[in-house]
Amino acid sequence: MEKARIGLVGTGFIAKIHIAAYKEIAPYAQIAGICSRKKENAENFAREHNIPKVFDNFEELCTSPDIDIVDICTPTNLHDEVIICAAKNKKNVICEKPLTGYFGEDSEKEFVGIEVPKSHMYKKVLEKIEKVEKAIKENNIKFMYGENLIYAPSIEKMKRMISASSSTILEIRAECSHSGSHASYAKLWRTSGGGSLMRLGSHPVAVVLHLKYYEGIQRYGKPIKAKSVLAEIGNLTKIEPFIREEKHYVATAWEDVEDWSILIINFEDRTKGIIFSNDISLGGLKNWIQVSLSKGQIYANINPNNMMVAYAPEKEIWKDEYIAEKIETKEGWNFPSPDDFWTRGFPQELKDFAISVIEDKEPISNFELAKETIKVIYAGYLSSEEGRKIEL
Ligand SMILES: NC(=O)c1ccc[n+]([C@@H]2O[C@H](COP(=O)([O-])OP(=O)(O)OC[C@H]3O[C@@H](n4cnc5c(N)ncnc54)[C@H](O)[C@@H]3O)[C@@H](O)[C@H]2O)c1
Repeated sequence: MEKARIGLVGTGFIAKIHIAAYKEIAPYAQIAGICSRKKENAENFAREHNIPKVFDNFEELCTSPDIDIVDICTPTNLHDEVIICAAKNKKNVICEKPLTGYFGEDSEKEFVGIEVPKSHMYKKVLEKIEKVEKAIKENNIKFMYGENLIYAPSIEKMKRMISASSSTILEIRAECSHSGSHASYAKLWRTSGGGSLMRLGSHPVAVVLHLKYYEGIQRYGKPIKAKSVLAEIGNLTKIEPFIREEKHYVATAWEDVEDWSILIINFEDRTKGIIFSNDISLGGLKNWIQVSLSKGQIYANINPNNMMVAYAPEKEIWKDEYIAEKIETKEGWNFPSPDDFWTRGFPQELKDFAISVIEDKEPISNFELAKETIKVIYAGYLSSEEGRKIEL
């Protein structure tokens, strides 16, 4: 195989980023087909991006002999179904983060986030992970976990510095936050599987797990794994003084999902990871990692970073030119990101995935990372509800 042939499922926000990234790695991958919930959207996308084939649905795409990798860019509640369908048809899978979750499939309740015990959710998520893992293993396909931050140039540099210093990672702090999603699916547990900890926290949880895994492999030949989790979640946009304010700049109207979370991971070597993720942070997307090593300290400011700083007296000055994700205004001082997708690791991630299939090797972001990330997140929900540390 010279180039991996991709079948894209979905035409939404992340699918657009994947398309842009595939264009940058054209020697390794080509989009051979596409489908979406509405065929019309897939047809428009195919016309716009020269994609040769439009499928009626993901089942049809998964059976096509023209596809090597099914790239799942659908909402998270569909991930497990599409993975299992692809696996049964012996197709390799790229699955966007997070792997899966609990979506109230076995409950009549509308607001499952506050009406279904987290102990039940945790059990169901573990069962689902097992089912997906079985399908992957039995059909001997490659699973590639769409966690782009693992491939961010600053994280790759950080890994080289950790390795060079032969340091112990004593503590990692990491955050992914912004001023909140306005998408309706994000407001309800049934469609999102959780709030800020799930949607945003899945990025820093994965980075922290990956760095300790890497340290373990480098120094001892085996990963250092998460042992227990302690977490707290909150709904800061539901407090009275905030509600009474006339104008709200952060997203509101969360139904049964949290808008704020902190999670502590205790690793088996007794070191710590602290994850911050919330929907109440103004000023654009925040993605940073701080590592306290036994022999040094490293900060990675992925978003925003001050490689570029720009000022405009009015927001219209920069017209449609992209400045940075999720900023409320282009007026005043801003931090334009010259190549945001590269800074966040998207083309590098998809290149690793295409090469993994072409050369039959394990991707850096794999099923193990996807599985551990979702286990930590749901252990976090359980911890927060029961007010105790959860052993994994
Ligand atoms: N890596 C990142 O930084 C990042 C950023 C945003 C979203 N995501 C992840 O990407 C996934 C999608 O999120 P999004 O924001 O792109 O959502 P979206 O709503 O913008 O797009 C979802 C797409 O899936 C399609 N779809 C829905 N049901 C389908 C079906 N049955 N068959 C085929 N297509 C179907 C929809 O038509 C839509 O095109 C989520 O899992 C999310 O967590 C990752």
